[in-house]
Order: sequence, then C-alpha cells, then structure tokens
Amino acid sequence: MAKLAITGGKPLRRKPFPAWPVYSRRESQALQQVLRSRNWGGYPFPNAHASAFAAKFAKAQGAKYGIALANGTVAIEVALKAIGIQPGDEVIVPAYTWEGTVGPVLLLNAVPVFVDVDPETYCLDARLIEQALTSKTRVILPVHLAMNFADLDEILRIARPRNIAVIEDCAHAHGGRWRHKGAGASGDLGCFSFQSSKLMTSGEGGVVITSNLEYHERAQSYVNCGRASATDQFRQRLIGFNHRITEFQAAILEAQLRRLPKQARVRQKNMQHFEKRLHGTPGLGFLKRDKRVKRIAAYQFVFKYLPEHFAGISRAAFLGALEMEGIPCDGLFYEPVYRSALFPVDPAEYPALSWSRHEPLDLKTRYHCIVSERAAYEEAVWLPHHIFLGSRKDADDIADAVLKICENIGELRGLQHPAIARKEMSRAERPRIEKRQW
Ligand SMILES: Cc1ncc(COP(=O)(O)O)c(C=O)c1O
Repeated sequence: MAKLAITGGKPLRRKPFPAWPVYSRRESQALQQVLRSRNWGGYPFPNAHASAFAAKFAKAQGAKYGIALANGTVAIEVALKAIGIQPGDEVIVPAYTWEGTVGPVLLLNAVPVFVDVDPETYCLDARLIEQALTSKTRVILPVHLAMNFADLDEILRIARPRNIAVIEDCAHAHGGRWRHKGAGASGDLGCFSFQSSKLMTSGEGGVVITSNLEYHERAQSYVNCGRASATDQFRQRLIGFNHRITEFQAAILEAQLRRLPKQARVRQKNMQHFEKRLHGTPGLGFLKRDKRVKRIAAYQFVFKYLPEHFAGISRAAFLGALEMEGIPCDGLFYEPVYRSALFPVDPAEYPALSWSRHEPLDLKTRYHCIVSERAAYEEAVWLPHHIFLGSRKDADDIADAVLKICENIGELRGLQHPAIARKEMSRAERPRIEKRQW
C-alpha cells in the first residue's frame, strides 16, 4: 500500500503553517497615521518615516547611514553608482544568486564576472576570487544566503589593498551578524530588499547602508533625482532618478524591524531542531555553520538532497512528494545567473561586453560554475522561513515528512505527477502557475 501522499497515501500534514507576512495592530496604526497625515510620498526627501526607519535599520546593522528606497535591485544599482562605477569596470559576483544581484551591473554598462560558490556555504567562494581579478576589477559583490555569509575576512583581505570596493548583497541577511558587525556593515555598502518574501517586508522596498558619508551622499542624490543630499558636504552632482520609498512602506518597516529579533530567535530555534533531527540521514547534506557568523539570518533553510544516494531519483520527485506531504519547498530557487532564462543578455545592448575583445563576451557560454550548477539543477532544497515561525511540533512535522520520503523513496521511481512537473519548472515559466512569489 502506498505510503507517500503523492502516490495515494495520507499526507503527513494538512494544517497550514504560520502565514507570511506577519502584521499586527502596529502596522495598521502606522498605515492609518500616514494616511491621515496626507504626507504619503518620498518627497520631501528623505521623508519622516523613511528617514527614521533608515537610521534605525542602519544602526541595528552597525552602519552610520541608511537610505530607504524602492527595492533591493535598485539598492544594488545605487550602491554601484555610489562607489563611482564606470562603464567597462568589472564586478565579481557569485554565479548562484538572484538575477537582481547582477542586472544592475549590466544596466550601468559594467561587466559581471561570475565566480562559483563554496559547496559548504553556497555563498561566493572567496578562494576563487583572486584568479578572477583583472586590472578592471572595481567591486566584489558577495551575496549572503542559505543562513550563511560569504567569507568576508577573505574578501576584505583581497579587496582592501587593491582599492576594490565591497558591496554586500544582504537581501537574505536582515539581522545577521558576521563577527561583531551586522550584515552590510563590513563592506563599503550593504544592500537589502523588503520584497514580500523577505525577513522584513513592506511588499516592495529596499535600503542601502554605509558608514562612508561620501558614498551616502552620492547614493541619496541618485535616489532623489540628482538633488543635493541632505548633508551635501561633498557637493557631487550626478544624474539621478526617483527611487524613493513611500511613507506607507517606511512606516510598515518600522514595525517590522521591531518584530525581527523575536522572529529570528523562534526561527533559529526551530531550524536548529529540524537540522538536529535530520543530521546523519544518508543522502542528505547540510551546509557549514561558520563560527564567525555570530547571528544567523534564516531567510530559507537550505540543505542538499543527493540524488546519487537515492538511485538517481530526481530532486524534483523528492520535492513534489514533500509538497504533497504538506510542506512548502523549492529546488530551482536560483539558477546560475548566466544560464537563467530571466537573464537573456544580448551583447549588442551592453557595449562594455565588446570593448577590447575580438568577439563580444557571451556570458552564457563563457562560464561553467559546477558547484552553482549542481546546487541549482540537482541538489539544493529551499524551505521558506515562515514555516519555521511556529512551534517545535511544526519543525518536527517538516523533519518527519522529509524522513518519510527518504524511507519510501522507491515509490517515486518512474512516477509522473503534476507536483513533480511543477518542481522542474524554471523561474521564468512559473508565473503561469504561481499565486505567491517565493
Ligand atoms: C539575493 C537577492 N538580491 C537582490 C534581490 C533584489 O531585491 P528586490 O526584489 O527587492 O528588487 C533579491 C530579491 O529577491 C535577492 O534575493
């Protein structure tokens, strides 16, 4: 008799997990207050809530200045402009990340240089950076993900003597801490996203933090249509745009920031319990817990499903089965950006890809980052953070569901099922079936 829900057995869990995003009267009151104030937009810049929130957030992460803005993609664009990126400059990026880490590099007519990720952390592999440097390298742009940090000690050791800027993409790392500094505060600038799925959210939104006043001023000017910054000490004019955040979003974010530490503790406790339950299960792999990470930011719990241990039964089959047991999960959460259908780069549109070359640089064929490719297409399993925001019993259910599938994996051999087909779909295809964005 079938045991797994996907083959007709009883699902391990029917009860929904805690809903995301979380809100309370605090958010409602904040919204009402902005509504009544009739002061809704980002101008005058920075407006009251945006300014208060950005200052609190920067302080919480250990930086001097913060600018709240439209979203995390724009935050990266703004940070690149702040350090004075020039056309043709090269930016080291991890291959395994969201396309929004890399898009701004191309938009500014700079050149992304993809470096593979560390198999133990899934973050930029600092051991591979030096061989990717050239005289044009201007920025290293690590992304902290999978409850880990890229090795910032090593990245700063490489960058500092060479005058290379470090911009941390912290879209997954709100509240995280590397040694004694918050995410985004070790490098020159840190960029965060407040998109719906993130650890703090206002639906859309972002923030750039830095302790460098000159970068802060340039960033402010770029976000506010090129106007003088609030301090205007460096008097640098640049063409800017309207990347401001609204007061509604900023007011929500103030409330979300207050809730973050408690949520982080609950998530971490449940994730630790979950990991302990599964540790040592043949065929599953766990990422490194680096002692230098003093506070974990747990945006997604990421572990490895090793298909070779399960007679080649695919990750998509495993995930389809897990979903049918009642556990939200994902595999193709990210693709190596250079291979992604969401990254259709035509060199004709990005002139720097042709400069000083016989042939334009073809990002799709130039790179083959094996750790990123294996993570993306074979082994990485991503579990969203909100399912760890409940009780220990919830965490036990998730662990029990994973174990149930491992124990009955044979039922998945040769199985065709819409839930499996869904798990094989790339992010580019998903809007056809997705109701929520995770
Ligand atoms: C790693 C990473 N970088 C950048 C971004 C871009 O943020 P946003 O969606 O707010 O533009 C995201 C958001 O999904 C992300 O996950």
